[in-house]
Amino acid sequence: MSAASPEPFVRFIDVSKSYDGKVDAVRALDLAVEAGEFLTLLGPSGSGKTTTLTMLAGFEQPSRGRIFVAGEDVTGVPVEKRGIGMVFQNYALFPNMSVGENIAFPLTVRRLPRAEIAQKVARALAMVRLEGLADRRTQQLSGGQQQRVAVARALVFEPRLVLLDEPLGALDRQLREQMQYELKHLHQRLGVTMVYVTHDQVEAMTMSDRVAVFSTGKLRQVAEPRRLYEEPDSLFVAQFLGESNALAATVERRDGGQCAATLPGGETIVATAVGACAAGGKVDLVLRPEKVALGAAAKDCANRFPARVVEATFLGDQVRVRLAALGRDDFVLKLPNAAGQDMLEPGTPVEIGWRTEDCRALVP
Ligand SMILES: Nc1ncnc2c1ncn2[C@@H]1O[C@H](COP(=O)(O)OP(=O)(O)OP(=O)(O)O)[C@@H](O)[C@H]1O
Ligand SMILES: [Mg+2]
Repeated sequence: MSAASPEPFVRFIDVSKSYDGKVDAVRALDLAVEAGEFLTLLGPSGSGKTTTLTMLAGFEQPSRGRIFVAGEDVTGVPVEKRGIGMVFQNYALFPNMSVGENIAFPLTVRRLPRAEIAQKVARALAMVRLEGLADRRTQQLSGGQQQRVAVARALVFEPRLVLLDEPLGALDRQLREQMQYELKHLHQRLGVTMVYVTHDQVEAMTMSDRVAVFSTGKLRQVAEPRRLYEEPDSLFVAQFLGESNALAATVERRDGGQCAATLPGGETIVATAVGACAAGGKVDLVLRPEKVALGAAAKDCANRFPARVVEATFLGDQVRVRLAALGRDDFVLKLPNAAGQDMLEPGTPVEIGWRTEDCRALVP
């Protein structure tokens, strides 16, 4: 870090966690969260997202490494002394309390004066648009309303940091999308630092300033959503965030930022060289389906190959086309609805192409 950049708000330094003393649920994690940032931990089931969050909250202790919040080493600090708000997947509202009592709970345990509690609860209710529901039982609320109560309860004591573990997992798709925007706007209004967990890549892209991608306990890459999608530095990240064509190839030569690589069938592809990609080495050539041009649109591409349509699927806003090309029959391209769809009959020979900068050669 340069002297000019401020200390990040949250910092994991070489943090590992093993529950059984054998397998690491989280391994050698170095991660910084900036003040005011919305950072999402994204990854498949069992990749260590919740473990990371519970260590930050203080429910679990790291087996190794340190965690800092606002410059303070909190590694041994108990949960209630960390000033962190939490929202979990299953709401975990108190069923025997009203909405208002639920939201007031963090303030009651902190022994705030009654008038101040009433004022803060009213403000928190307004924040999540549940004015007038203070006296309702939580069982009399819809899933989305219950989730809003959980968010209000996490925010009511003005924590410096809010952790959310799959908070929208139980909601139907429409409500989930609506809540994604609500949470995002709440974050923008309050400026509070949020660490969010999901295994839904669209949710992660929708909400986050940056996304940290995990697999099997390892942080693979952390970057802004667009950067992560456009410039994945591993096949795992490329395939976890959206769809990719992946072609195993051998590098013939590297020339600065570009390389030429050969497929098992002998075809040569010019691609963007990433990382340690070097002549003689194996790479995965990774190419997004929407970056593949078809027919006349392929004319100016550095990479052009003959192909045959296997199957075209109409998806509303786009058409997904499966092609036989480059020795395989699962090459995928996506076209926006309305472009050149007369040539998509199965069996039709077509030309496909893509630009060097849209194909990344990743070292496995
Ligand atoms: N309390 C526990 N005791 C023992 N092992 C655990 C415990 N909690 C998690 N694990 C193991 O640690 C690994 C990481 O689990 P974790 O809950 O952090 O994953 P996750 O990314 O949150 O997954 P999911 O998306 O399914 O919630 C898994 O292999 C899991 O089985
Ligand atoms: Mg989890």
